Amino acid sequence: MTAAIEPSTEATAYPPALVALHWITALAFVAVFAAVEFHEYFPKGDPTRDLLMLAHKSLGITILLLVIVRLFVRSRVTAPRIIPLPPAWQTGIAHLTHTLLYAAMLALPLLGWLMSNAAGRPAPFFGLELPYLIGENKDLARPLKEMHELIGNVLYYVIGLHAIAALVHHHVFKDNTLSRMLPVGTRK
Ligand code: HEM
Ligand code: HEM
Repeated sequence: MTAAIEPSTEATAYPPALVALHWITALAFVAVFAAVEFHEYFPKGDPTRDLLMLAHKSLGITILLLVIVRLFVRSRVTAPRIIPLPPAWQTGIAHLTHTLLYAAMLALPLLGWLMSNAAGRPAPFFGLELPYLIGENKDLARPLKEMHELIGNVLYYVIGLHAIAALVHHHVFKDNTLSRMLPVGTRK
């Protein structure tokens, strides 16, 4: 039987592995969003457009791999307490937001993978072609793409609110919400 990672009721920050996974994932999101936004500036067939979409898809799959590792690590630790403790309604909204973020990190890459397969293409992962999860199904390709785009666009706002909330906690409420998620040596 494996021992759980030391419970962190006394810890003042997330474990370094979760801090690293959080910020690497955040950077990957910036690249995934930038790639899909910029590809539209290039005409169909342009190699730069194809390269940007390859980056979008490959980094999207990377996020899926990262979130699987992250959820495993997260399931074995308790989040460090916020000091001073925020009101219950704020904690409730934070939990809901985190659940939505985790769900999107799983759903978006999987929808991207499925919609590529439904359109008759394999999902690429850098130089590799990932196995088909479903066979070609043109009728399914469109609703999957619409769902992917809808969730992707809503996610901009959820991430925006999440980042603003972190900054408000840090600068207005002056609690340790943000410093718990910062790398050792950058905490105040
Ligand atoms: C966390 C991972 C991902 C995020 C956040 C994400 C987000 C987005 C967003 C915001 C759009 C643009 C929506 C719009 O134009 O209105 C988009 C489009 C698209 N995504 Fe993703 N995506 C992810 C992963 C993937 C993966 C893994 C694939 C395929 C394997 C994929 C394939 C596509 C395709 C084909 C489009 C449509 C591009 C176009 O024709 O304009 N995405 N995605
Ligand atoms: C500048 C951007 C960002 C800032 C300032 C930020 C800040 C933070 C902070 C301070 C926490 C701890 C919050 C708490 O315990 O209540 C946190 C947790 C979290 N963040 Fe971010 N974040 C950012 C971007 C992102 C992005 C892009 C994602 C993924 C889409 C993300 C996903 C999460 C998740 C899922 C948690 C919950 C951690 C857990 O307890 O399991 N964050 N973030």
